Parts: sequence; structure tokens; C-alpha cells
Amino acid sequence: MRKSNSLPPAGHYNSNYGNFQTELYAQVRHEAFGEDIGQNSWLTSDEQDRFLESLNLSVGARLLDVACGAGGPALRIAAITGCSIVGIDVHEQAVTTANLLAGQRGLAERAEFRSIDATAPLPFSDSSFDAITCIDAINHFSNRQSVIAEWVRLLKPGGRLLFTDPITLTGPLTNAEVATRSSAGFYLFVPHGYDERTISQCGLQLLVCEDTTANMAEVAEARHAARESRSAALREVEGQQSFDGQQEFLAVAARVAREGRLSRFVYVSKKLS
Ligand SMILES: C[S@@+](CC[C@H](N)C(=O)[O-])C[C@H]1O[C@@H](n2cnc3c(N)ncnc32)[C@H](O)[C@@H]1O
Repeated sequence: MRKSNSLPPAGHYNSNYGNFQTELYAQVRHEAFGEDIGQNSWLTSDEQDRFLESLNLSVGARLLDVACGAGGPALRIAAITGCSIVGIDVHEQAVTTANLLAGQRGLAERAEFRSIDATAPLPFSDSSFDAITCIDAINHFSNRQSVIAEWVRLLKPGGRLLFTDPITLTGPLTNAEVATRSSAGFYLFVPHGYDERTISQCGLQLLVCEDTTANMAEVAEARHAARESRSAALREVEGQQSFDGQQEFLAVAARVAREGRLSRFVYVSKKLS
């Protein structure tokens, strides 16, 4: 694994990935997301279905999912479209789980997950992917412009990039809210407009910019409630401090999203020929 330019993901990522395949954590995901596709983000399956419409993926296409987590979202795309997927993430337990899930879902021949730091140059050839996705993770990279420039290098002409940014400032935040909302490693808070400018500076053509903050608020509230109703069991696994920390994170994430102060946007862009 390459050296990271950012703090390694910590906090709730360790408990969520460390216990990903247990029945307890699967139940929480099922209640939080409606459908447990193996995600660890704000992504729901109906949202992913809409995202897929912009990606033009079919049998034989290659998708790179950056910061793929436990791999569930990318594997669902492979199952629906017939494409091949490569997922990269810096969290070793997430990558191990992703490779296990690929086998369990019968997709091992079309899916590969690797421990790679997305903030470093990536070990793939120029123009080798039809699409790149990055769901709720770009906020963890300190060097956004060079990360997106690297994605442009990897995309084929006409290829699509889809990323969500759940850490877009659209109102005032207190120092306590910032500290709680950024309690899992490195976070970059950017004003609305920053992502559009960066996409354009990297030579991509912006096709879609959509506000998906309501989805984040709903998932954060539902995940908080699902965990609260299993608090005794989760406290035993995570410990009191870690359980409380994640609950506080989810409560703040829900509140600042509901009040439109910290927003989530999805951006789809195209590499020009
Ligand atoms: C909110 S999770 C999203 C995971 C996945 N995209 C999903 O939808 O389930 C953010 C992910 O970013 C990963 N991450 C953070 N910093 C990273 C880095 N420098 N390189 C690669 N992955 C990173 C974390 O390990 C975590 O899996």
C-alpha cells in the first residue's frame, strides 16, 4: 500500500468494517438503508439506480470504484450491468470484506478489490476505465485537484466520472459540529461551487449536479435509530465511548443536513474526446 497524504480513516470505520458481516451490523444497515447492498455511506439502492442511468455501463465495460469500502455498491453495479469492476480502498478490513463479498455474490471473476491509497498516483494504465465512481469519500482526500486529474488520466475519452461530496458547506456550522462531523480521519469542507470549478479545471464536462442532501439526512436519522434500538448489543461490541461517538456523529450529520447547512451533491462529468 502506498503512503497516504491524508490521515488514515479511523473512528467508526474501524467498528463498521471490523464487524461488517455480522448479523447485528447487517440488521442496522437493512433498517438504515431500506436495502442492505453492503454500503457504508449515505447511498441507497434507489439512489444508485438513478446514478446508473448516467454511467452508460454494460457487459465488457470497466468501472473503477475509488474508496469502495466493503465493495457492496460496486458489486451491485457489476451484477446489474454485467461490467467488470476494480475497487480500491485504504482500509484493509474493508478490502478483505469486499473480496469475500465478491465470492459470495458469484462475481469474483469480474471483481477485484485492492488496498490502495486514492490520494497517490494509481497503478492503472491511461484510458483504461469506462467509468469511475467515488461515493461519499472525496472529502477524505487532501489533494482533490490532483486526485481528479488522475481520474481523468484513467478514463477513456467519453468516459464518465460520478462522485458524491457529502461535506459541502451551504450554511453556518459551529466548531463543535465541525469536530463531530469530521471525527473519522481527514476531512475537507468545501463551499458549494468548489467541486464544479475543480471538475472544469481538470478538463471534464459537467453533465449533472444534483442536491442529494435529503437522502443523507434520512439515512443518518434511520441509522441512528437502528443503532439506538440495538444499543446494548452494539455497546458490547464497540465499547461505550465508540458507540456514543458514532451516535453523536450520526445525530449531528442528520441535523446539519436537515437544516441545509452541510449538503451532499452528486456530480456526473464526462471526459472529452
Ligand atoms: C463513507 S465511506 C464510503 C465507502 C463506500 N464508497 C460506500 O459507499 O460504501 C468512505 C471510504 O473512504 C475510504 N478512504 C478514506 N481515505 C482514503 C484514501 N486516502 N484512499 C482510499 N480510500 C480512502 C475509507 O476507508 C472508507 O471506506
